[in-house]
Amino acid sequence: MNISSDTKGIDPFRAIEVSQLAHELRAQGASVIHMEFGQPSEGAPAGAIEAARGAMDGGDMGYWESMPLRQRIAKHYQDEYDVDVQPQQVLLTCGASPALVLALLSAFDVGSRVMTARPGYVAYRNSLRALHMNPVEIACGEEDRFQINARHIRDAADAPDGLIVASPANPTGTIIPPAELADIAAACRERNVQIISDEIYHRLSYEIETQSMLTHDPESFIVNSFSKYYGMPGWRLGWLICPQKFVAAARARAGNLLLTPPALSQHAALAAFDCTDELDKRVEVYRRNRTLLIETLAQLGITDIAPSDGAFYVYASIAHLTDDSLAFCKKLLAETGIATAPGLDFDPEHGRRFIRFSYAVTTEMAAEACDRLTKWMPQQAGYRAPGDKKIFMDEWGRSADILAMQDLRDGFLAGVSEARDCLAGMSAR
Ligand SMILES: Cc1ncc(COP(=O)(O)O)c(C=O)c1O
Repeated sequence: MNISSDTKGIDPFRAIEVSQLAHELRAQGASVIHMEFGQPSEGAPAGAIEAARGAMDGGDMGYWESMPLRQRIAKHYQDEYDVDVQPQQVLLTCGASPALVLALLSAFDVGSRVMTARPGYVAYRNSLRALHMNPVEIACGEEDRFQINARHIRDAADAPDGLIVASPANPTGTIIPPAELADIAAACRERNVQIISDEIYHRLSYEIETQSMLTHDPESFIVNSFSKYYGMPGWRLGWLICPQKFVAAARARAGNLLLTPPALSQHAALAAFDCTDELDKRVEVYRRNRTLLIETLAQLGITDIAPSDGAFYVYASIAHLTDDSLAFCKKLLAETGIATAPGLDFDPEHGRRFIRFSYAVTTEMAAEACDRLTKWMPQQAGYRAPGDKKIFMDEWGRSADILAMQDLRDGFLAGVSEARDCLAGMSAR
């Protein structure tokens, strides 16, 4: 048997490493604020928990895919986005993660090329690689609002087979505005690109309306789950909206690979749809946390932040403080108890200079995190008080200082190679 420790190009999720350290610290009695994972600190809404309790006393608990829940999800698309989805197109899955895998397996083949934004959710790249498909990552910087746009699809030398869009996105929270979403759908139609739209952060938006991709492309796959707005990540329940032509393929794969999702979670999730009053109040807490965090970071000289339109993330450049975001996150955790995610998880090229905060915490936790940051940050090498110096960022998040150092180094290397040419010329004479 060939046992290999080779990860075959599939990187570990480094936020897990930070989280494990955070839990160890907590076990030793330290006060830890968990901002490393995108999970609401409050858990499932009260109505969902009550429904789960009721289901324990005699609800359906076998291998089961709840028809009432599929019907409720289909209705949600009608109510929320005014698009027609049939219950038969809804597949219930153990979270958005297997929904994404099912969509990929149903629509594409080994070797298919699928475009994604970088920075982006780490599982896109890794799931594609695990399925022997090829991620085509598009570096999206400030000028693209860190998101894929129609130009990326129209300008691609070889049209990809597929596109994964996420709006609001992880790690940035950036939303693709409705007009751009429509143009992306048009560009994909022109170039015959199958869309998978990850809408897991819908209902968590603060500035721009979130539209379902189904509004513009009824043939797209939609991935979603109860892990974010509904506060139920550990209940492992999500869904896939499948274009009619792929329903049979997706069902065959779901049945064989995954069987059915947890029955208890399906009972609870049906009730969660009626808990929007409670859940919307949480969104208001996130809105206030977001303002507090962004203002605190600005006062600490951290102003290069991706447009934080939705989800519950702030993705900030820390280029003037480090080019090793993992080490930075570990130091921040050890010295303040604040656990965060290193940008490296979302962007292997430029993420060394970014950090992601999740503000899906209580108001008290957000305020405490901001206090700790305010005390800690000024002691860090490279710290700049606001107004000290304008932090200029190029499109890859490199600060003016780093660019100046690189210019100096490039100038020096150019001088060395000129001198070498000159010497070579002299010896040839
Ligand atoms: C963009 C995105 N898609 C999918 C997932 C997976 O979510 P789930 O817990 O539903 O599997 C996450 C989790 O953080 C995510 O951020």
